[in-house]
Amino acid sequence: MQDNYYITTPIYYPSGEPHMGHAYSSILADVFARFNRIAGKNVYFLTGTDEHGLKIQNAAKKNKLEPILYCDKISEVFKNLTKKLNLSNNDFIRTTEKRHHKAVNDLWNKLVKSGDIYLSKYKGWYSVSDEAYYDENEIIEKEGKKISTFSGSLVEWVEEDSYFFKLSAWEKKLLKFYEENKKFILPNSRRNEVINFVKGGLRDLSVSRTSFSWGIKVPENNKHVIYVWLDALTNYLSAIEYPNIDSKLYKNFWPASVHVIGKDILRFHAIYWPAFLLAANISPPKRVFSHGWILSGEEKMSKSKGNILNPIEIIEKYGIDQLRYYLMKEVSHGSDGSISLKNLEKCVNSDLANNYGNLCQRVFSFIKNNCDNTVLMNNNLSKNDKNIIQETKNLTKDLSDLMNNQNLNSYIKKVIDISFLTNKYINDEEPWKLKNNNREKMNNILHIALEQIGMISILLNPIIPISTSKVLDALNIKKDISFLKNKNILPKKIKIKNLDILFNKIN
Ligand code: MSP
Repeated sequence: MQDNYYITTPIYYPSGEPHMGHAYSSILADVFARFNRIAGKNVYFLTGTDEHGLKIQNAAKKNKLEPILYCDKISEVFKNLTKKLNLSNNDFIRTTEKRHHKAVNDLWNKLVKSGDIYLSKYKGWYSVSDEAYYDENEIIEKEGKKISTFSGSLVEWVEEDSYFFKLSAWEKKLLKFYEENKKFILPNSRRNEVINFVKGGLRDLSVSRTSFSWGIKVPENNKHVIYVWLDALTNYLSAIEYPNIDSKLYKNFWPASVHVIGKDILRFHAIYWPAFLLAANISPPKRVFSHGWILSGEEKMSKSKGNILNPIEIIEKYGIDQLRYYLMKEVSHGSDGSISLKNLEKCVNSDLANNYGNLCQRVFSFIKNNCDNTVLMNNNLSKNDKNIIQETKNLTKDLSDLMNNQNLNSYIKKVIDISFLTNKYINDEEPWKLKNNNREKMNNILHIALEQIGMISILLNPIIPISTSKVLDALNIKKDISFLKNKNILPKKIKIKNLDILFNKIN
């Protein structure tokens, strides 16, 4: 039976232009989705826009548009981004859709029924930019303004009637859940952060607001709109047809395999979300993978800081595979990473143009010019041939594990090492010297080189799908990672197609 794999990105606030942080989060999830597809799993990959709350209501007002018209416009911008980033998402959900309202209402009613929601009054700090409540000890005063120590965002004092979720009652049960599910939060540094926070004590959470109207109304009390995070998190369920728990999508894909998120929204995903779900008697997701921030110099890249690198401009200048590769290879997924155009150019030149691209080009053009595009493997392999096959096996051994634990940086490094090794093998074996006197040996070397290129291309396919697909097409092989179980990917006799240059060197 085919395994199911459900992966999500955070749904984006359509409060401004998309930036590199958004692109990074989405591409990361896309790589895991694509890898699992070529590993034979039945994958469902979700992204979308998070359209309610005060932040969006304010953005709409600033743009002199009705909230829904404003959301229609900006959500479309994000939808287009998914195309530009070459995301392979199966769905794009908007929290203003009917299917989502239905799911949120249902979850709310379940929480009321279980006795986890009660009406009271909220008095405390709120950050509109984070759409988050903060405790007194998380606030400092800077230049006469109150800000959150956690995010640096401005907070305001709020006093209003509010429904509360009994989060305090879930403290021990959450700690037990983390203990029993050691890989629920990855990486471990984030897991420890969450556990320490929960151990520090949880207060009941305000889950409705009365001072504005742009949101989903509380079913039994129209004066309240549901807190935007309770609303937004539910998108992961509404996209797979919850509350219809008999639907094929829900049955196949819940609990989700992994929610990919940035570290700024860890608390919502790793504390509130499992608590809501456990209270409603729904299984929590299997994993929350929290990546660091993309920095520009020392600071988080964000609209409010005005230090945005525009992904669309970069894609137009360098190409989407180039951007995807750079972000996945160079930004450490656990911690923050500073990015720059200079480093992007360096990375693309060294790994893609000079290493993988050059390997493909030299082998394909040699075979075209000297072998009429046909290569035949003979049986008598040399010691060096056997060595490279063995060394490659060693390097590919733990690749699936690395990917399944979201350790993409090490995964890419190993694959690029295989490409480096293969270039070296060709340099050492000098097939061009065998053209006239030992075509059998030359054929073996070329066949091994093609086999290596095929493997590298499949392994890099989730990261750079466009260029690797050209190579796989020229080799006439399928995207299928089962060769990791010791299989050859090419027939003994192979006829290849011509291959154009994959990556131009950036000068
Ligand atoms: N709407 C919420 C998510 C709701 S999920 C139920 C949200 N949206 S967001 O548009 O502000 O951010 C979306 C994602 O982009 C988050 O994972 C966030 O961490 C990520 N990034 C935003 N800026 C970032 C960087 N500078 N660097 C890396 N990722 C960051 O949060």
